[in-house]
Amino acid sequence: MTESALPPGGTGDDSEASPESRLWDALQALAAGRAEARAPLLEELAAAPHLASALTSLAVHCAGSPSARARIAAHLADPKWSIWLPLHLQEYRTALPADARFHQTLMDALADSGWAQAHLQALQSSADAGVSAARALESDLEAIAEEAAGLLSHLPAMRARITSTLHVLQVQALMRAELLLGGLQGRKVLEVGPQEGGLLLEMIRLGADATGIDLGPQLQHPRIITGDFLHTELPGPFEFIAATAVFESSSCARGEPDSDARNNSPAVLKRLHELAAPGAIVVLENVMFPIPFTREDAERAGFEVLRSRLPAINLRTGGRSCALKRA
Ligand SMILES: C[S@@+](CC[C@H](N)C(=O)[O-])C[C@H]1O[C@@H](n2cnc3c(N)ncnc32)[C@H](O)[C@@H]1O
Repeated sequence: MTESALPPGGTGDDSEASPESRLWDALQALAAGRAEARAPLLEELAAAPHLASALTSLAVHCAGSPSARARIAAHLADPKWSIWLPLHLQEYRTALPADARFHQTLMDALADSGWAQAHLQALQSSADAGVSAARALESDLEAIAEEAAGLLSHLPAMRARITSTLHVLQVQALMRAELLLGGLQGRKVLEVGPQEGGLLLEMIRLGADATGIDLGPQLQHPRIITGDFLHTELPGPFEFIAATAVFESSSCARGEPDSDARNNSPAVLKRLHELAAPGAIVVLENVMFPIPFTREDAERAGFEVLRSRLPAINLRTGGRSCALKRA
C-alpha cells in the first residue's frame, strides 16, 4: 500500500470501528466544532482502564502525517516487533515533558505525569471549552505519533544488531552510547555485570578500551575482573559505563543469586560517579523492573539525566532505561 493510499485512523463506520477509531472519529468531530461528539468522546475516555495508555494508543493507531502513519502502520502490522515494541508505551515528550520517571513502570509514570488526566478535565470542564480542549488533545496526539515514527527510524539498525551474542538490552546500551558519545573507538569503557560477556566483547571489537567487572562472570577473559563493582579497584575513570539487567530493583529485592541488595542503595550512584570521568555517560538498561533510584537521586549524586532517544524495547511496561551524564 502506498502512503497516499493509507486509510486515515478513523473509519467513520462505527459498526466495525476499533475503540481507537471510534475515539479518533469523536475527537476529530469535536475538534471540528461538532459539539454533539463531546458526550460519546467522554464516554469512551471514561471507559478506558488506563487513560494515558488509551490516549497514547490512540496517537499511534490514528494520528500523524501520512509518512508517520505509513511507518507506524508497517510496524504495528509486524507480529514480532509490534509486541516487542508496543509503541504506545514510550517516554513521549508530550506526556513526560521533562521527567524520565525511570524508577516507575512506564504505565505508572504516564499516569502520574497527569498529562492524560489534564486533557480529560479540559474536555469535561464545559461544553464551550470542549472544542478547544479537543484541538489541544489532537495536537498532542499528532506530536506523539510523529515522535513514535521518529523512534522507529532507529529500529532497523537495532534489529540488525541483535544476534545470538547480543540481546536487545545490550543493543540498546550500545546504540545509546553511540548516539551520546559518537562511537566507542578508543574510549575507556566499563561494563558492570557482563556475565557471558557478549556486550563487552562487542565493545572491544568496536575499538573500546573496555573492562568488565562481575560478581560471577561466565566468561574467562583478560578484560573481565571478578568482584563487586562497589568495592573493587578498577582502572577508571571511564568515559562510558554500561550495565544491562544488573540494577533490577525487584530482582535485587527478591535476593536472586545474581543480585546484591546493595545494588539498590545510594552507594551505587556514588560509585558510578566515582568511576565516571567528567562528561562520561552511564547507561543502565533494565528488562523487567524500573531503575531503583529516582531522577532526584541521580541529580544529587552529580549526574544530569538525559532523555532517551531510542525506542525502549522492554517487556511492555516494566523494564526501563536511563542515561546519565556526569557533570
Ligand atoms: C542478570 S545478569 C545480566 C548479565 C548481562 N549484563 C546481560 O544483560 O545479559 C546480572 C549480572 O550482574 C552481575 N552483578 C550484579 N551485581 C553486581 C555487582 N555489584 N558488581 C558486579 N557484578 C554484579 C551478576 O553477577 C550477573 O552476572
